[in-house]
Amino acid sequence: MTPLSDNLEVLLAQLPKVELHLHIEGTLEPELMVEIARRNHIPLQFPTVDALRDAYNFHNLQSFLDIYYEGAQVLRHEQDFYDLTRAYLDRMAAENVRHVEIFFDPQTHTERGVSFETVIKGIHRALSDSQSLYGISSRLILCFLRHLSEADAMRTLEQALPYKQWITAVGLDSSEVGHPPEKFKTVFDRARNEGLLTVAHAGEEGPPEYIWQALDLLHVKRIDHGVRCLEDPALVERLKRERIPLTVCPLSNIKLRVFDEMTQHNLKTLLDKGLCVTVNSDDPAYFGGYLTENYRAVCQALGLNAQQLVQLAKNGFEASFIPQADKQRFYDELDRLLAQSASQAIR
Ligand code: ADE
Ligand code: ZN
Repeated sequence: MTPLSDNLEVLLAQLPKVELHLHIEGTLEPELMVEIARRNHIPLQFPTVDALRDAYNFHNLQSFLDIYYEGAQVLRHEQDFYDLTRAYLDRMAAENVRHVEIFFDPQTHTERGVSFETVIKGIHRALSDSQSLYGISSRLILCFLRHLSEADAMRTLEQALPYKQWITAVGLDSSEVGHPPEKFKTVFDRARNEGLLTVAHAGEEGPPEYIWQALDLLHVKRIDHGVRCLEDPALVERLKRERIPLTVCPLSNIKLRVFDEMTQHNLKTLLDKGLCVTVNSDDPAYFGGYLTENYRAVCQALGLNAQQLVQLAKNGFEASFIPQADKQRFYDELDRLLAQSASQAIR
């Protein structure tokens, strides 16, 4: 793959960015996993950093999830969740990321006896430190595991309610096929009645029908992934008309074989159709790149220009849960960068 031009590399570094699709458990780098496992006296199936990295060869979503849930077992104490979240935010500060909306999977932890309180307190403390240290603002999204029952999700929501002021939205993740959004209608209704927003993974491996259900039954504000929407022109029309954002995760889609190669990714087609596509990293410790690397990979493979790069970043701010009034200054900053980049390209 030919490298990006110097001009695009500079723009990419200077671009203010948001991340809207990030599983905090998916940022557990092998080095930190081994360190936390050691201090918590937990044996690992792949006990070294090299053995862990070697195991990160996936052929679909489920083959990844099996390893991802295994890795998360090392997290036991509030400090573990703090260290995990803090390591991610330190990286984001270095990548000029201004705002993050991160998922956490409480059921992965509560089902092995770690309390909801332990999990959320560690994550929340790191998020508030990153606001004061780096000026990175954040939102937290509680994801229900869709391979478990709706009753289990409802119990999890009840555990979350005392911490409602720290949670912006609920989402839906884990094994998609066979677990349609309709399975979770009641718990999403309850979450919305409690004042929470909703998002859902849909159309990653599952059919366009799951995206319709997420919109019509779960009343989601964004679709996580959503790349299979192109199979249904009426759905594309709806997403465009209602400006429903798609949080697309390019490197994830290649690692989990949603597309064979990055040159075949449909992100540019989605963008050309006028959809609110955003770039995100999903589970970067497992998929080989954080946010900037995801931008770089699509830019290189799909030949995106400066204007398209800036549009993707703008879409991120538009799709975020940042208050409407605060979005304009980011749009202005992005417009200035595009103008600067154009003038440098002429010289
Ligand atoms: N949990 C973590 N990453 C996920 C993904 N890409 N899809 C569904 N569930 C997930
Ligand atoms: Zn995801």
